[in-house]
Amino acid sequence: MADKITIGVVGAGAMGRGIVQLFAQAGHPVRCHDAQPGAAAAAVDYVAGMLQRNVEKGRLAPDAFERIRAGMSVAGDLAALAGCGIVIEAIVEDLGVKRELFRSLEAILGDDAVLATNTSSLTVSEIAAGCARPGRVAGLHFFNPVPLMKVAEVIAAVRTAPGTVQVLKSITEGAGHRAVVTADQPGFLVNHAGRGLYTEGLRVVEEQVATPADVDDVLRDAMGFRMGPFELLDLTGLDVSSKVMASIYEQFQQEPRFRPSSLVPPRVAAGLYGRKSGEGWYRYENGKPVPPSSRPVPALAAGLRLFLDPHAAQADTLKALAANAGLIPVTAGSDADLAIVQPWGMDATSTALSLGLDPAKTVALDPLTPFGLRRTLMLTTVTTSVVRDAAHALLASDGVPVTVINDSVGFIAQRVMATIVNIAANIAQRGIASVADLEDSVKLGLGYPHGPLGWGDRIGAARILAILRAQHEATGDPRYRPSPWLVRRVALGMPLVSPEAAR
Ligand SMILES: NC(=O)c1ccc[n+]([C@@H]2O[C@H](COP(=O)([O-])OP(=O)(O)OC[C@H]3O[C@@H](n4cnc5c(N)ncnc54)[C@H](O)[C@@H]3O)[C@@H](O)[C@H]2O)c1
Repeated sequence: MADKITIGVVGAGAMGRGIVQLFAQAGHPVRCHDAQPGAAAAAVDYVAGMLQRNVEKGRLAPDAFERIRAGMSVAGDLAALAGCGIVIEAIVEDLGVKRELFRSLEAILGDDAVLATNTSSLTVSEIAAGCARPGRVAGLHFFNPVPLMKVAEVIAAVRTAPGTVQVLKSITEGAGHRAVVTADQPGFLVNHAGRGLYTEGLRVVEEQVATPADVDDVLRDAMGFRMGPFELLDLTGLDVSSKVMASIYEQFQQEPRFRPSSLVPPRVAAGLYGRKSGEGWYRYENGKPVPPSSRPVPALAAGLRLFLDPHAAQADTLKALAANAGLIPVTAGSDADLAIVQPWGMDATSTALSLGLDPAKTVALDPLTPFGLRRTLMLTTVTTSVVRDAAHALLASDGVPVTVINDSVGFIAQRVMATIVNIAANIAQRGIASVADLEDSVKLGLGYPHGPLGWGDRIGAARILAILRAQHEATGDPRYRPSPWLVRRVALGMPLVSPEAAR
């Protein structure tokens, strides 16, 4: 252990314990301190108990366990942290208390010791500003639970020295976590990149395009998100999430891309927090969500004449489905009982009109979502209920679930994906992190199946731009203005993730 830096951890709560475990397992001597008497000892015992279970399961050798256990100790007071090369604080989220702690630590530690804060929402530069040597202060932001969430953000505050960033990056990667470096900007990297899922999901519901359960179903089942935005909001608690949404918007000087939804404050006032209060966007019984009632699949009418937009992205599979279901293909829209179109970045009504189709007989199917997972069926403003039911019956005829939504530029998935990619493009534009760090942090920190810019490449950057421009034009809302970083790359035909950054 001689070559391993001694690490102090102050604050032995949920995060502090995880940080102690991570670095102790990596072979560092770790000293843990908490203002609450007994809390640090309880944390060390807790970590030892977790590791003991690994020994019992055969995942950890008994002698390795003994070494790790011997490396962890309790610091009865701050002075016992003297000699630590790095101290990481995970105490209460309060600027004054954190500044006071760092001031006290500066008096105890050597001049080249590094001070790191695990703050989620404070500005690291503000914490550092209270220190005599702000160059040694940085953020080291872990995610809960620390040992399992294999990424940490190293936050370079305005006056953080490059050497400080390097030390934190190297101990974090030495402990097996991916360390991503980010500027001291609101939400740092992961929480910044994760805004789009919530803001656009809420906007879709606000506009009466779809219900919260529809939004979650499409994003989870068809796009591969682990959870939809409303499931996530219910899990975190809307009382907590609403503050984060408001704070990031304010910290970004009221940037429209992060504007919170007016749907949220009345729900917070009414106590609809989510799981913890028994009701949020979903209702919970015995801790389990009660499934919302879904639209029954109508019976398939016989002898319907179907017109398919010849440019539809999924025309071949649609044709096969229609043939199996006994529909009669027609080549002129005017002969059809039902017309199906597949627009990118257009609503169903405009698409019907642009193709000379009768909007009352037209529906749109999202070409972005894979055909076999879940289909999104979008109505025009005047699609009749007979046409809606015929289209629903056809699209569900092979057992694939169908979500029926109202007219919207870009369905659910196109809108949310375009928003996520645009926010990521602006993170790159602003140099908040490198593209490689951005991509990895989103996959590891948010569990998305792809990094946001790589996902944009898969969908097609030009399509993403077209969706944003169409939404911008349809709504006049500056939240949809495309990032210049995206616009230039589309103009040049460049990928959003260069082969070097993709690794
Ligand atoms: N919980 C999360 O999911 C999460 C994720 C990332 C970052 N964070 C951040 O990590 C920090 C800690 O969060 P947590 O969830 O572990 O909190 P927690 O409430 O579980 O634990 C905080 C601990 O700090 C101790 N403490 C408070 N003031 C102290 C002081 N002045 N000196 C020494 N000890 C003190 C408390 O006794 C407590 O044991 C916060 O800044 C939080 O924003 C939390």
